[in-house]
Amino acid sequence: MTQNKKTILSGMRPTGKLHIGHYVGALESWVELQNDYKNYHLIADYHTLTTSLNTDDVFDDSIEMAIDWIASGIDPDKSPIFRQSQVKQHTELFLIFSMLITKARLEKNPTLKEQIKDLNLQTIAYGHLGYPVLQAADILLYKGDVVPVGEDQVPHVEITRQIASNFNENYKNPDGKLIFPIPEPKVTQFARLPGLDGKAKMSKSLDNTILLSDDEESIKTKMKKAFTDPSKLRKGDKGNPDICLVYTYHRKFNPSEISEIRAGCKSGTLGCFDCKMKVSKAISDYFLPLREKRAVLEQNKNSVLEVLTEGESKARLIAENTMQEVRSSMKLG
Ligand code: TRP
Repeated sequence: MTQNKKTILSGMRPTGKLHIGHYVGALESWVELQNDYKNYHLIADYHTLTTSLNTDDVFDDSIEMAIDWIASGIDPDKSPIFRQSQVKQHTELFLIFSMLITKARLEKNPTLKEQIKDLNLQTIAYGHLGYPVLQAADILLYKGDVVPVGEDQVPHVEITRQIASNFNENYKNPDGKLIFPIPEPKVTQFARLPGLDGKAKMSKSLDNTILLSDDEESIKTKMKKAFTDPSKLRKGDKGNPDICLVYTYHRKFNPSEISEIRAGCKSGTLGCFDCKMKVSKAISDYFLPLREKRAVLEQNKNSVLEVLTEGESKARLIAENTMQEVRSSMKLG
């Protein structure tokens, strides 16, 4: 049964405590996919070097992120969770893969162009240019068939596909079987939950997030500042829910009251303040079980580290298996 399951490799950079946008855009679907696929969950700690050389917080951020993953429902017994830096095979396969893609191809990566903006390609670090190659190694070490990603990561899966075919063309198993699958990106539908400031995306750097760990009071405080229909200034004014951010949150987290909220906003009987308090309560209730689970884990971070260590042992076995196939197909031994 298990042998027939396809493999999913999902990964995130460790950014510390996650926000509800991460949940809606990624975690929710990761949890769902656990039943039908064999899942591996990678904490891409080496990838943080592309944005900052200061690694002081990377360890703690990895633990906090793992807490949110587990509290969201990822079952580490079924789906190993591991840190990239603890499985050496990632760097080994990265080296081989870096010979299988041209510099020009990496320079065309739209995500990179977006990131470097003012920087130029002469001053960018060699490893930053090559970071999709490390991502390809992350995916292919576990022979990932499917990679759940946001839109912005699709170009990296494209690069992974290209590297996989290039490897397969050059090196084969003695029985002619191809070494690597050609992975498919699986773009998460609700990929974007807008930020409290109305920007398209919640993001730590924009400081417009609601954290999974935020309690009702903190959510209310943050929500007070949330962007609403600018022409609805006070209770009694008629509003347009379709351009209101708070309404977007109601749609996702408060579906049972949605028609009432919509009607109240349009007629003016519901003021923005009350509407924001209602949605804050709904969000808080929605994530209450998660928060309770995360609080227990937070009290016992050693157990979380043990989960990672165990995940890393499992990952290493699979990764080394793949590396043996790789070395032998290359006739290196
Ligand atoms: N590059 C991804 C990001 O910046 C993180 C990542 C690293 C990843 N390795 C991966 C995502 C493998 C999916 C699969 O968010």
